[in-house]
Amino acid sequence: MDYHQHMSLRAALEWQIEAGVLDTLGETPVDRYAVPAAPEQPKRAARAEEANPVDAATGAPMAAAAADPVAEAQQMATAAQDLAGLQAALAAFPHCELRRGARNTVFADGTPGARVMIIGESPGREEDRQGRPFVGQAGQMLDRMLAAIGLSRAESVYITNVLPWRPPQNRDPLPDEIAMMRPFVARHVALAQPDLLVLVGNISCDAGLGKRGITRLRGSWTEAYGKPALPMFHPAYLLRQPHLKREAWADLLSLKARLG
Ligand code: URA
Repeated sequence: MDYHQHMSLRAALEWQIEAGVLDTLGETPVDRYAVPAAPEQPKRAARAEEANPVDAATGAPMAAAAADPVAEAQQMATAAQDLAGLQAALAAFPHCELRRGARNTVFADGTPGARVMIIGESPGREEDRQGRPFVGQAGQMLDRMLAAIGLSRAESVYITNVLPWRPPQNRDPLPDEIAMMRPFVARHVALAQPDLLVLVGNISCDAGLGKRGITRLRGSWTEAYGKPALPMFHPAYLLRQPHLKREAWADLLSLKARLG
């Protein structure tokens, strides 16, 4: 087991503990007296062949068909022809362990086709419960920020996250989780066709720009997923650091000016 598998399993376990799981019970009772004896272990040679398969004709070792989650994500995302197809593809994507602990796949909210698309980090507890991004305290803050420049999710903004599943205890997404979700985010942008992107917080900048450092990045227009993009402080960060609202206000005015 590598480091990431270890951390994912550990995170899934912590999530279950946090969710209140006390016992590991199956849904149906098992009669242990009726369970057949475990099958005999295969001989050592057969096991070795399984681990290192060989071509039956030539006897040459065959390349292992290891799943590549990023390549598979790319393939599934590219195949999606519209937002509904992309949502279905995400819901069917099997490689991200976070999905096991999540109640919902949180896809998007707001107005598809809006000029502004906001990309956040990952769902929190409330978003996971409701299945919509930015509906908790940070979401209410985001709504207030948008309203201050005359925008609203009901009419003029489309909102999503880099990760559609809540990480346990709201931990930061791991690099491989971001990497396997990035093709879906890129396709999401291509299908939603916004004029502008707002990347809120470090994880969103990491996925869209390949770099972090929101204090340095914020307020400077750049490009992500082929669109003009404005990095901004995450509303949750502004709730913790209210003295930064002045910078956030400057960024909102920059967004408003860009929209004309
Ligand atoms: N923070 C995010 O980045 N996204 C949400 O949906 C909620 C909180």
